[in-house]
Amino acid sequence: MKILVTGGAGFIGSNFILYWMKRYSNDKIVNLDCLTYSGNLENLKEVANNKNYTFIKGKIEDPIIVDKATQGIDVVVHFAAESHVDRSIKKPAEFVLSNVVGTQVLLDAAVRHNIKKFHHVSTDEVFGSLELNNTNKFNERTNYSPRSPYAATKAASDHLVRSYFITYGLRITITNCSNNFGPYQFPEKMIPLAITNILEGKKVPVYGDGLYVRDWLYVKDHCRAIDLVLQKGKVGETYCVGGLTEDINNLAVVKKIIQILGKEESMIEFVKDRPGHDRKYAIDWSKIKNELDWEPLHSFDEWLEKTVEWYKTNESWWRRLKSKEYQEYYKEQYGDLD
Ligand code: NAD
Ligand code: TYD
Repeated sequence: MKILVTGGAGFIGSNFILYWMKRYSNDKIVNLDCLTYSGNLENLKEVANNKNYTFIKGKIEDPIIVDKATQGIDVVVHFAAESHVDRSIKKPAEFVLSNVVGTQVLLDAAVRHNIKKFHHVSTDEVFGSLELNNTNKFNERTNYSPRSPYAATKAASDHLVRSYFITYGLRITITNCSNNFGPYQFPEKMIPLAITNILEGKKVPVYGDGLYVRDWLYVKDHCRAIDLVLQKGKVGETYCVGGLTEDINNLAVVKKIIQILGKEESMIEFVKDRPGHDRKYAIDWSKIKNELDWEPLHSFDEWLEKTVEWYKTNESWWRRLKSKEYQEYYKEQYGDLD
């Protein structure tokens, strides 16, 4: 089988390629990625010289490159996207181009080349925000209600993908997954930002009152969910994928990280809140459990500790990323936080 992975140099995409090539060593992988600030080929050095792995540098919104990359492909797994909510608030146009136009260009090529399966990797953020004090969760029937430019562009891409199933008969599947954590996550997202700031002796910025809730899933469990959907998922269907955490808020997550690193809670600094900040995400993953026998295998506490350990032992990886361009973003986002 020959798989085109888009965005394979990013956090989840690179974990997915490493996961896939270990398990299905005869499959061929083509990684199409334009290497934005969050794309990093170092994540893939383990497979760089594997004869079954090819890298193409290019944008998914470029029809010529996409047409070339799609030739001879059996399956597309589409990760490429601008992925950080805070950046989407500052520069939404880049999100529309990559996440919406890019997805449409890729879908057109998939139809033209009779791709056997097109899997779209999406997010729970398309569903909007839950209330803090009730037990509701998102599921496959929840109405879309995106509230950030990032979530709105991912929602648009989900709609496009479904429309290509209905209109052109493209054999699609979609996963809407909750917040991932693990190795190779760019240190602008909350968990790696907290870990690396503490390792650098800097404060950890916590937005607003810190009582925002996310549903955390270890990245390998997400990769396994995509694998199962590709193997056994029903064409045209959506699967919600989530973790094992129940109502853990950001402040509690940051405190756990501080405790693992043996530091003081005075490292926490409450900063200005994110505009339109979604209060809570929670996923009901019973459909993928019942139909495909998937469930998370990695507990939050144990794998948070392992993730902290990974950032401790891979300091050169993240130090380089926290360099010039990132410093400019950081200064604009957090002001003079030290
Ligand atoms: P990331 O920012 O770490 O990686 C994105 C990758 O896509 C990078 O390698 C980047 O270079 C590439 N890319 C961006 N725009 C591109 C373009 N126009 N053309 C080609 N390549 C481009 O993101 P991530 O956290 O790995 O997320 C991957 C996917 O998973 C995204 O679609 C995201 O919406 C989805 N998702 C992420 C999470 C999460 O918690 N991180 C949860 C659910 C779903
Ligand atoms: P993030 O990792 O950006 O993921 P998302 O916005 O996609 O959920 O943020 C996770 C949570 O952490 C979210 O509620 C925002 C909050 N947060 C902070 O409190 N401080 C920070 O510096 C960042 C980046 C996020």
